[in-house]
Amino acid sequence: MSSVEVRYLGHAAFSIEHDGTKVLIDPFLTGNPKAAADAAELEADAILVTHGHEDHLGDTAGIASRTGAPIATIVEIAAELTEELGPDHVIHDVNLGGTIEFDWGWAQWVPAWHTSTTPRGTVNTPAGIVLNIGGRTIYHLGDTALFSDLALPGQRHSLDLALIPIGGRYTMDRHDAVRAAALIGAPRIVPIHHNTFAAIDADAEAFADAVAAEGIATVTILDPGQSLELA
Ligand code: NI
Ligand code: MN
Repeated sequence: MSSVEVRYLGHAAFSIEHDGTKVLIDPFLTGNPKAAADAAELEADAILVTHGHEDHLGDTAGIASRTGAPIATIVEIAAELTEELGPDHVIHDVNLGGTIEFDWGWAQWVPAWHTSTTPRGTVNTPAGIVLNIGGRTIYHLGDTALFSDLALPGQRHSLDLALIPIGGRYTMDRHDAVRAAALIGAPRIVPIHHNTFAAIDADAEAFADAVAAEGIATVTILDPGQSLELA
């Protein structure tokens, strides 16, 4: 089983790579002061979107249009993207609890406590994404507050990694994120959605120390552009 590379592109954006397949999640690059890549240079075999806020939907339409990559996201956002990209572009719509199967794996959309309206004004329900690729399972929480049902995905799936927002203000803060890490039960954690803008500055080292002190998980702090390998 060859490894899975989890490449952090900044904010909540990732390229998850395995055996030449590249899956983008929440590709917000244009206008992201910490973007580790140019949207015009990214390759994608699929684009998964947690919710419609600009800092998550981001460059989805542009990258999809250029690469032809299929998109999978919540139904209302999918409908808006179909209007934008045309009926021939493959867009998988899904709602909370739903799973989309791909030839490289699958992704399930799970609840997140947040709000969401796209820049074009489409109201939609936000989500987290549980992604399976190359035999590994990764839980991207999207934007969410702390809530007890964050424990549920880990009761069904054997999670290898959780990507947890710690920036506060628009999501849980680093203190609630420690409780979230305990609920989720993944053995490895990468903090996300912090230090992109001043409003979401957070001490990732303090988060990592708190998680380690309780023996919850191993935290890897990634700078934008860095990768974590799931061996
Ligand atoms: Ni949001
Ligand atoms: Mn956000």
